Amino acid sequence: MNNSLQDEILKLKEEKNAIILAHNYQPKEIQEIADFLGDSLELCIKASEIDDKDLVIFCGVDFMAETAFILNPDKKIVIPTLEAECPMAHMLPEEELLKAKEEHPDAGVILYVNSIAEAKQHADTLCTSANAVKVTKSLKQDKILFGPDTNLGNHVAKKVDKEIIPVPKGGHCYVHKLFHIEDVKLKREQYPNAEIICHPECNIEVQEACDQVMSTGGMLRYIKESDKEEFVLGTEVDMITRINLEVSGKKLYPLLEGAICNTMKLHTLEKVRDSLLNEAPQVTLPKDVAEKSLKAVQHMLDASK
Ligand code: 13P
Ligand code: SF4
Repeated sequence: MNNSLQDEILKLKEEKNAIILAHNYQPKEIQEIADFLGDSLELCIKASEIDDKDLVIFCGVDFMAETAFILNPDKKIVIPTLEAECPMAHMLPEEELLKAKEEHPDAGVILYVNSIAEAKQHADTLCTSANAVKVTKSLKQDKILFGPDTNLGNHVAKKVDKEIIPVPKGGHCYVHKLFHIEDVKLKREQYPNAEIICHPECNIEVQEACDQVMSTGGMLRYIKESDKEEFVLGTEVDMITRINLEVSGKKLYPLLEGAICNTMKLHTLEKVRDSLLNEAPQVTLPKDVAEKSLKAVQHMLDASK
């Protein structure tokens, strides 16, 4: 790290007693100044343990910062730009979930953490890609309304003995939808010694063609502990940046160079500096929405232990 803007941010962070949380898909210069980097679950757990900090700068997308607010309604949760939205999270409006619940009154409701808070407040629990199977098993119902990611739902359905009903039909991540089975075949030819790992947001055919399917935090741990040297990663390209920051001696290739989450890249060092200086823009939610959603967030955290 050798950048005066980064130095300015580190100084401001101390002065303001702030913590910078960042998702594994953040660009390198932001990963370098973060206090904590992680997948959605790790960030959620970290956000539940920051009593000693006055200000949280969240370098991720909207639903992640909202979850940090749900856990810390009395703290200032700041996101460097409010435009950093996850389109998948907005694919399940509150009304659609309420309608599905009416149609399936006997079903348990699990929402991917990539969902809006207005929908989360009606869920029994939440999950991330790291704990979806465990959380699904933890509910007593044999029938589960699961959304908004159909691919994660399909991933879970293969591993549990329960009926998984997607809500909405076809909810997806536009980045992970870019991967096709042909990309996996091509990389197998190109890198015959590499293990191919993808994220459960990829479509099910891609998941089945890969060697492993796991969350971004899972990828980091798996590669760190593996004796193997070469890996192809079917997820957002900056996951490679993240692993390279912590693990040396591995050869990492993207399944697709163009797998970029554009909104994750809206955070820049300038915006992080300004958000620290101004303690804005803040992420907030109506009190009742935050209070009702906390039940589902807490259930997920307890079920993940
Ligand atoms: P992880 O929780 O695995 O980091 O996934 C979050 C996400 O949005 C992936 O696209
Ligand atoms: Fe949302 Fe996909 Fe970006 Fe993850 S990669 S934050 S699911 S748009």
